[in-house]
Amino acid sequence: MIAAMPRAAKLAASQAVRDEWLRRVEQEYRSAATTHHLTLWLIQLAVSPDLIRAGLRIAGDEIKHSELSHHTYLAAGGQAGLAMTRESLALRRPEEEPLEHAVTRTTVRVFCLGETVAVPLFKSLRDGCTVPAARKVLDRVLRDEVRHREFGWTLLDWLLRLPLGPALRVIAAHELPAYFGRLRLSYGAMAKNLTAIDPADRAWGLMPPAEYAATVERTLERDWIPRFRTHGIDAKRAWDMSLDVVAGAPPAQVGQRT
Ligand SMILES: [Fe+2]
Ligand SMILES: [Fe+2]
Repeated sequence: MIAAMPRAAKLAASQAVRDEWLRRVEQEYRSAATTHHLTLWLIQLAVSPDLIRAGLRIAGDEIKHSELSHHTYLAAGGQAGLAMTRESLALRRPEEEPLEHAVTRTTVRVFCLGETVAVPLFKSLRDGCTVPAARKVLDRVLRDEVRHREFGWTLLDWLLRLPLGPALRVIAAHELPAYFGRLRLSYGAMAKNLTAIDPADRAWGLMPPAEYAATVERTLERDWIPRFRTHGIDAKRAWDMSLDVVAGAPPAQVGQRT
């Protein structure tokens, strides 16, 4: 009979694991703030009560994701605190333009892009994850992200049906290349050669940059092109422009419009 591995050895986590889970704690917390603020904007716009309730529920989900991620961070031996400024946990918008403009930008950037790619990303992360503390988080996040994705596309549909819809479609199409560019850069577009990862790190729910990049590229074909097409927006064209747009823009202007 093979002796059972000591519990401490099974749970041993690298610094990379701790760094990644702390980043997830922050990212989930930031998602809660973003969704809560967006939902206030939806209340101001008097959207349907169903959409408002869906937004509030998502904000609660994101707090739970952050809390669960923090448990995993502690289980991995992490001890650092969060380093987010209070001011960064709010959406900003130009006062001189209609609120619908900012709502459209946030919906496209955070939900139609971020929450949509999150579904296959978390599925891939969960496939290799065997450490119970990490697996529990990924199970919950993956279950919730499908609903978060659908919230975004339902909200975009509502926005584009408004009298302002044609102008909002132009804004969405205009912003899409920069949003794609930022997303691609943060998900491995420049590190596709990094295909390997320590098996222990994968067991803790990490994966190499090349897998992030491949998942993002699959999402273009499976989700973004067909879903944006039904709204009259050419996602393939935006994708083809995306890295050039990001490379040519001052960093402060890219994706910081909402
Ligand atoms: Fe989340
Ligand atoms: Fe989410």
